[in-house]
Amino acid sequence: MRKHLLKRSVLFVLPCIAAAFPSLPATVQAHDIEGFGNLSGAQHLVLITRGGVLYDNWYKTLGKSAPKDTHPAYPKAGKQKGASTWRCKECHGWDYKGARGAYSKGSHYTGIGGIRNMVHAPIDSIVANLKNETHGLSKLIPNEDMTALAHFVSHGQIDMDDYIDSATKKAKGNVANGERIFQTVCARCHGSDGKLINFKSPPKAEYIGTVASDNPWETLHKIRMGQPAVPMLSMLAFDTQDHVDVLAYCQTLPAK
Ligand code: HEC
Ligand code: HEC
Repeated sequence: MRKHLLKRSVLFVLPCIAAAFPSLPATVQAHDIEGFGNLSGAQHLVLITRGGVLYDNWYKTLGKSAPKDTHPAYPKAGKQKGASTWRCKECHGWDYKGARGAYSKGSHYTGIGGIRNMVHAPIDSIVANLKNETHGLSKLIPNEDMTALAHFVSHGQIDMDDYIDSATKKAKGNVANGERIFQTVCARCHGSDGKLINFKSPPKAEYIGTVASDNPWETLHKIRMGQPAVPMLSMLAFDTQDHVDVLAYCQTLPAK
């Protein structure tokens, strides 16, 4: 009986939320992102991609030196230390699900939750959250970039489980369409087999093919938002399915 009631109240609340945000569907799709306040649709997209690369690595994006100490909110039992513990992704994950996603186990486990509940949340409340004592970021990230981060959190994140099978890590994409995009867009910098740029210093090797298979969530985030501090493009103006198609093709590229 209680279950029944709960279901009914959820069904009642959902249309109300949708009515409050008429331009934003439940799963945020890039092609649905419209203007916001005084921002045009294009300006809004740019702001979200700025927030996306900041989420990836805000100190690199801002050209600041990396923090030396481990973040005070990073759990003592965690396996990471130093600068990387200040990156949003280190606590909240590349899939934005924190301990309920890919970081539910392994060397990046923190037990900290994700940011999925903040989809469509008011920008001011997210900025206030980032300025709180837990995050300790108010003196480190300028106000306009706090706003960009909040726009990414509220309007830019997607539910990656819709696009990546979390058990097999396989992208739910069309490889042939991904190949067309990759070969005309990404290959200029990364080479037609994705091996022109090595992300590690030799003799170690890590290419797009390596990352796309090992960490499809990171790769999808970067396809959508770009890479911090380098001139890599963002594909956010294109449909999410196109991003996923590129990811599916990247998973066919050589890993070594
Ligand atoms: C060292 C770990 C850590 C880092 C780094 C970190 N956070 Fe958090 N964040 C937390 C904790 C802890 C909470 C509150 C409790 C929880 O979600 O488990 C939180 C909460 C949040 C929330 C609210 C989630 C909710 O559902 O209430 C948002 C949004 C958020 N963080 C965004 C960010 C962004 C954006 C960055 C990067 C600028 C960031 N965080 C960096 C640890 C971190
Ligand atoms: C204008 C050149 C350029 C284009 C176009 C470009 N990239 Fe990049 N990409 C880079 C550079 C530079 C880096 C950083 C290399 C480094 O840090 O060693 C990078 C990094 C990456 C990474 C990060 C890997 C990691 O582990 O940090 C991925 C994944 C990636 N690119 C995928 C793509 C895909 C997919 C496309 C096409 C949608 C693309 N890139 C288009 C230049 C480009």
